[in-house]
Amino acid sequence: MARIIDGRRIAADIRKEVKEATGELKRTQGVTPGLAFILVGENPASQVYVGMKGKACAEVGFHSVTEVMPDSTSEETLLKKIAGFNADPAIHGILVQLPLPGHIDERKVLEAIDPAKDVDGFHPYNVGLLVIGNKTLRPCTPAGIQELLLRSGIDPAGKHVVVAGRSNIVGKPIANILLQKAAGANSVVTIVHTGAGDLGRYTRMADILIAAVGKPEIIKGDMIKSGAVVIDVGTNRIEDPAAKGGTRLVGDVEFESASKVASAITPVPGGVGPMTIAMLLKNTLEAATAQAPRF
Ligand SMILES: NC(=O)c1ccc[n+]([C@@H]2O[C@H](COP(=O)([O-])OP(=O)(O)OC[C@H]3O[C@@H](n4cnc5c(N)ncnc54)[C@H](OP(=O)(O)O)[C@@H]3O)[C@@H](O)[C@H]2O)c1
Repeated sequence: MARIIDGRRIAADIRKEVKEATGELKRTQGVTPGLAFILVGENPASQVYVGMKGKACAEVGFHSVTEVMPDSTSEETLLKKIAGFNADPAIHGILVQLPLPGHIDERKVLEAIDPAKDVDGFHPYNVGLLVIGNKTLRPCTPAGIQELLLRSGIDPAGKHVVVAGRSNIVGKPIANILLQKAAGANSVVTIVHTGAGDLGRYTRMADILIAAVGKPEIIKGDMIKSGAVVIDVGTNRIEDPAAKGGTRLVGDVEFESASKVASAITPVPGGVGPMTIAMLLKNTLEAATAQAPRF
């Protein structure tokens, strides 16, 4: 049976480290990390995410503000709001919760955020730095996956990592992180997507399989090499009359069959999920440290 990679415990460790470092930054530099959330519209899931992130900020001693804007907000008004936070010295990180209403150009909005305050790591400038291997603010979920591996004693160096999914928020950035010629990376990386045809043909070759396709339990145990490490990013809600509320969360990997062949695996929930907020806090601390005045 596979060892369970406990994302809740690892995320709690990171949050504790961030809290301690925040105390130190306040004491030594007089700087309190500040994070601004912008929420446009009334998407209930987005409201929950922003609420959770704001609470996490308070727990580690950050200053945070949440700007709730109506669905009808114009692109121009949103861009002005971002410009205000870019110029605000008490704000070191800006997070615009996605998705945005259809009339707003997401690309324009992400590009309006000062790259130094881009704690989601989605600004094309930061994406470029990541690709060429320079230090930068990295997208939270992929950065969290690397932390999960390293803090579980799994060194990806020299391993064949197969990433299923090529989104800009998970698949492409995790592939780029692990591809770098650097400590904690240096993997041989394959990315698969819908153009691959037979997904299992590729997943079976993985020493480390990272599943980010958003399809409930599409990857079964017989699609995984014996002894592989499985990181399941998928977060899919499925109907289950036996579950409380009639639904439950499952990953992209069928846990029961996969855990019989893998050497280590992340559960859903409790694997990758908790790492995203932990890494957002870490990014904000990094951004605040970099922006702190030098004496
Ligand atoms: N914190 C977290 O835990 C966290 C954060 C982000 C996302 N997630 C979850 O991770 C999953 C992926 O999210 P995402 O935003 O990356 O999804 P996405 O934007 O929908 O991208 C899915 C990717 O998977 C590929 N794909 C879909 N079906 C496939 C198949 N049958 N065979 C091979 N490739 C296939 C797609 O290929 P094409 O490019 O060819 O269409 C696409 O590249 C979702 O369940 C999401 O909820 C969790």
